[in-house]
Amino acid sequence: MDNLLSMEHLTTDEIYELIQRASDIKKGDLKPRNYEDKFVANLFFENSTRTKSSFLVAEQKLGLKLIDFETTTSSVQKGESLYDTCKTLEQVGADVLVIRHSQTTYYDELETLNIPIINGGDGSGQHPTQSLLDLMTIYEEYNDFKGLNILICGDIKNSRVARSNYQSLTALGANVMFSSPEAWKDESLRAPYVDIDTVIDQVDIVMLLRVQHERHETGEIASFESKNYHEAFGLTKERYDRLHDNAIVMHPAPVNRGVEIDDCLVEASKSRIFKQMENGMYLRMAVIDYILQTKGVQKNEITN
Ligand code: CP
Repeated sequence: MDNLLSMEHLTTDEIYELIQRASDIKKGDLKPRNYEDKFVANLFFENSTRTKSSFLVAEQKLGLKLIDFETTTSSVQKGESLYDTCKTLEQVGADVLVIRHSQTTYYDELETLNIPIINGGDGSGQHPTQSLLDLMTIYEEYNDFKGLNILICGDIKNSRVARSNYQSLTALGANVMFSSPEAWKDESLRAPYVDIDTVIDQVDIVMLLRVQHERHETGEIASFESKNYHEAFGLTKERYDRLHDNAIVMHPAPVNRGVEIDDCLVEASKSRIFKQMENGMYLRMAVIDYILQTKGVQKNEITN
């Protein structure tokens, strides 16, 4: 695996391999090598709390040296192109780039670079490390994906998480369903649209999506007052109480509390929202390690 750009590029074997490696790192059964001779740059052209901070921790646990880069103080402010920024970082010695950008498939213009790119989210396209950490969290719970009933609710059209997870979960044999306002449906994804109240007591996982205000046309949200959205498509206390005993609640976060999910449910017993964040750090360690190994660095030491 030379890059991680889209879940569509991963085989199911590679998905299982990355989940296994992340789980082994988490349990202490896999000790990745130290990459103190390698440099990484994190290029976040869109805001982030979880993805950026968990990559930073993962990179430092792996011993990587960080190249200080902020869009606000770089020559991006002078009009430098994405390609020129990335090519410059390659030339000064970066061994791997982590990039989040608002342009869907921004990575197409970077295909001549000779260093790996890990996609931290591209517009409404893909968010592969989020999908992998979600899969890791589901696997910890169910030890399988086949036959799981998974309801993904909300802003499907604008969500890179919905797209990435639809593709990976379907490939792994799960039954994915969507629930969404008409305006936020994405008919290019082949999952059935269902009424949340009809299926809520049958699903194994309810995955809520953040309402992506920043990707909406001006006024698009006007017909979806927060309270109305919560009652029509959100996880209310009533819906939570109808979930079966082993069902879990997921959300990539950040959460609009009281919109996608009732404030009091964010840390309820069935919620795995903060577990997803914890797993994200281990999963990102596994991804970086796997990619740098593919690039010819020596193999890990298995500790048991
Ligand atoms: N889930 C996620 O990508 O969160 P951030 O935008 O905070 O990185």
